[in-house]
Amino acid sequence: MSSKRAEYAKRNDCRVCGSDRLTRFLELGPQPLANAFLDEKGLKEDEEKFPLDLYVCDECSHVQLLDVVSKETLFSHYLYFSTVSTTIPAHFASLAAEIAARHTVRGDMVVEVGSNDGVLLSAFEGTGLRTLGVEPASNVAKVARQRGVATMNRFFTPETAAMIARDLGKAKVIIGNNVIGHIDDLAGVMTAVKGLLTEDGVFIFEVPYLVDLLEKNEFDTVYHEHLSYFAVRPAQTMLERSGLKLIDVKRQQVHGGTIRLYATHIESATQPAPAVQEHVQLEETLGLATHAPYEAFAKRVQELRDTLIKLIADAKANGKRIAGYGAPAKGNTLLNYCGIGANDLDFIQDSTAAKQGLYTPGMHIPVVPPADFQANAPDIALMLAWNYQEEILGKEQAFRTNGGKFIVPIPMPRIV
Ligand code: TYD
Ligand code: ZN
Repeated sequence: MSSKRAEYAKRNDCRVCGSDRLTRFLELGPQPLANAFLDEKGLKEDEEKFPLDLYVCDECSHVQLLDVVSKETLFSHYLYFSTVSTTIPAHFASLAAEIAARHTVRGDMVVEVGSNDGVLLSAFEGTGLRTLGVEPASNVAKVARQRGVATMNRFFTPETAAMIARDLGKAKVIIGNNVIGHIDDLAGVMTAVKGLLTEDGVFIFEVPYLVDLLEKNEFDTVYHEHLSYFAVRPAQTMLERSGLKLIDVKRQQVHGGTIRLYATHIESATQPAPAVQEHVQLEETLGLATHAPYEAFAKRVQELRDTLIKLIADAKANGKRIAGYGAPAKGNTLLNYCGIGANDLDFIQDSTAAKQGLYTPGMHIPVVPPADFQANAPDIALMLAWNYQEEILGKEQAFRTNGGKFIVPIPMPRIV
């Protein structure tokens, strides 16, 4: 939204192991930043675009972007709010309950990195635990504070961690959900975690799982905010390099398929649960340390694009009106990569107030409030927020009863 130029740099080494042997397997760009929605004035300006390419490290198999837009550009003002769905708050409430029951006793401190609007920490109310959020986006941190969640408006760095440890003591649990993959300096954040965690503390973090991304063709979850696409094995390497060890893995449904990883100090006597080795084995069986699965994925992504373009062209040829449902960041990767623009989609409805009245980056499709979708229902809605498929189908029964159809683009476009 701001017309300030973005700071950008290309790195040439793996952010987990430092190797410079990296292989590019998917090119989605150049693309604008997926959350850089434009106002009327922005539409008239030159839009910045950056390469959006996926690489795999030939040394440690970590899948990642090497084109890095600065964290200040991406995260100082943020348009993503955790509470936009009902799915995520429910998912977080169950994590909070698990932490309160299994990993802490009253009076312990829980620190959340990238605490967003405070939805997860607010679920600790009444548990007797002390909580602290660390959130770099000032607009989002403000919302968290308004709901009574103590929040530091900072990036989580070794300095931030030292400050918390000094002023408030160490944390029994550090949570990092959908944030570790956003951080370029992985060693820095792991050092911060190591320094802030009590001797018997647990670091619990969730990242989208590379296995799900590959299997379900979730290429649209690739955008400049997401620097790492984790499998268990490279995550283990990352942790061990900073004196931490992986002790458990649990697969989750959210965000198209996620893993929750549990880590502790490497010196701890805690033995890893069998799930750790099971996932490492699964990844070996899938050949994630070879190029084959990535090349096959890239082929499927092209096939997906061709199928979706044809589906939309056919519908348009039949005089159908199409709109987008949800304007997530991932929708912009999809629209820009497939070249689906304002001639194809009349508008996109989104429930996030901060996006309404703006235009999508790259394709410049207007974003409108849900009420406009109800009042001016299209024949077909392209479900860009496909990760909330159940929630959306559940609440849009009237649209479907009246003959409305959804196109769900992932894993392969289909009409429901
Ligand atoms: P999400 O998929 O969570 O995030 P990302 O930006 O990381 O890809 O974003 C979902 C978007 O969809 C968000 O802008 C809100 C919107 N949305 C709706 O408009 N209606 C809905 O019913 C739901 C569930 C989401
Ligand atoms: Zn590597």
